[in-house]
Amino acid sequence: MENIKDFQYPHTFVLLGASGDLAKKKIYPTIWFLYRDNLLPKNTKFFGYARTKQTITEVREKCKKYMKVRAGEEELYEQFWAANDYVAGSYDKRIDYELLDQAITKHERGPVANRIFYLAVPPTVFGDVTVNIRNACVALKGYTRVIIEKPFGRDDESSDKLSSHLARLFKEEQIYRIDHYLGKEMVQNLMTIRFANQIFSPSWNRENIASVLISFKEPFGTEGRGGYFDDFGIIRDVMQNHLLQILSLVAMEKPVTLNPNDIRDEKVKVLRHIKPIDINNILVGQYIGNPNGQGEEKLGYLDDQTVPKNSITPTYALAAMYINNSRWEGVPFILRCGKALNERKAEVRIQYKDVPGDIFEGHTKRNELVIRVQPGEALYLKMMSKSPGMKFDLMETELDLTYSMRYRESNVPDAYERLILDVFTGTQMHFVRNDELKEAWRIFTPVLKQLEEEKVKPVPYIYGSRGPPEADHKLAKYNFKYSGSYKWQKPTMD
Ligand code: NDP
Ligand code: BG6
Repeated sequence: MENIKDFQYPHTFVLLGASGDLAKKKIYPTIWFLYRDNLLPKNTKFFGYARTKQTITEVREKCKKYMKVRAGEEELYEQFWAANDYVAGSYDKRIDYELLDQAITKHERGPVANRIFYLAVPPTVFGDVTVNIRNACVALKGYTRVIIEKPFGRDDESSDKLSSHLARLFKEEQIYRIDHYLGKEMVQNLMTIRFANQIFSPSWNRENIASVLISFKEPFGTEGRGGYFDDFGIIRDVMQNHLLQILSLVAMEKPVTLNPNDIRDEKVKVLRHIKPIDINNILVGQYIGNPNGQGEEKLGYLDDQTVPKNSITPTYALAAMYINNSRWEGVPFILRCGKALNERKAEVRIQYKDVPGDIFEGHTKRNELVIRVQPGEALYLKMMSKSPGMKFDLMETELDLTYSMRYRESNVPDAYERLILDVFTGTQMHFVRNDELKEAWRIFTPVLKQLEEEKVKPVPYIYGSRGPPEADHKLAKYNFKYSGSYKWQKPTMD
């Protein structure tokens, strides 16, 4: 937290794209929570900026549904909106940014004043917005930081172009590329689990681990967001960023220190050991309607009015990749993600090898360490034990650290809350560095191009199912064994 001493000075948080969906659903609520919990510098002023001509009262009204104000917080909530302002302006005209600058300057009394710009704008206006911030709005008496949202390009070429564009305008330490998965509790816990426990370190390798499965599942389809989604698809939307970030934290070597650059150096190194994905190691799917389902479930991806009728954009993907280093050679890392599936779930499943030299007549099952990111953060280790009592039978059981049961009082903050606070305190540990991004695109671009050029048709799967049945065959091929025999009993609360 290098800049906590700065907290006495005026700060300005500018939300560009303030009339949009992300702003209303995520960013305004997040800055309210941070304000409410007294985590921001006292003298922070918030500006919304977008083309829509509206007042701050209208912005407030649009956000109302998402703001969550508890009893007793009404006065604080009024104060929060009193610290907010809104400026309407174009994205491409310098004069409008000069007016924004004048509005910001008015409250910047004293020798130091810092500015943070959050770009919740579509990629099409990204170039203009950043140039205009640089030309007309940078802080003259403090730092300027810009937070940018994915998509960071759509392949290696466009991403490099974007990176060079940004590098001409800002230094890397001013750029905060958000991957909100890096703000999630269990993703942040990965380093602690791995490097603060001697028990895991010696077995975290190819000698002991058979495969690693990283999954993301959502129980709803694109539902009107198909226009954006169809241009990107699930691989760019989730796999190339959220899942690959998790992979690098699971697989990287121990960093020299907890310094953000030391950590990101290790993340980049492990990515550099991964070859571009082979098309034979990828399966893509697209959901179709479930005739027996209810409401939206009846509709397939192609029934979405915002999706072109003949679209071959994947809404599901499973890809296996290999890390060519001495720790991981030969261990499949399977990334799997999909929309319109049977449940909401994001987890890492580390499956250990079969016990060698079996003396239990084939009754042992593989150990699995499961790190459940959401919903309901949990860490559990599936293991074998003798069934309690006179018998000498084996049973599958688990060591279970379910957060809601173990830490009943603690409140797990939302990913965006942590990350925006990190920008105020100047820590880039949980943000994506330029070279990480470059590696991510190196791994994914060739297969994305090949899928598009060869017009590979995604296999259909039914809305609300676990995904295409072919995916389970692939899992088995990549040395992930599903036994189907594990039964979990929810512990009863006392
Ligand atoms: P299981 O081994 O029973 O299931 C693992 C996963 O395998 C499933 O979630 C499913 O995920 C997948 N699967 C299902 N069918 C197949 C198949 N035919 N081939 C390959 N994979 C398949 O163990 P879990 O660890 O999931 O635990 C079972 C239940 O117990 C879960 O609901 C879990 O949340 C719960 N549990 C909760 C704990 C907690 O809250 N702390 C602790 C332990 C367990 P998918 O559909 O994504 O492929
Ligand atoms: C976003 C994707 O980055 O992550 C969305 O663009 C996806 O398609 C979302 O729904 C999932 O985030 P979370 O935090 O709800 O798991």
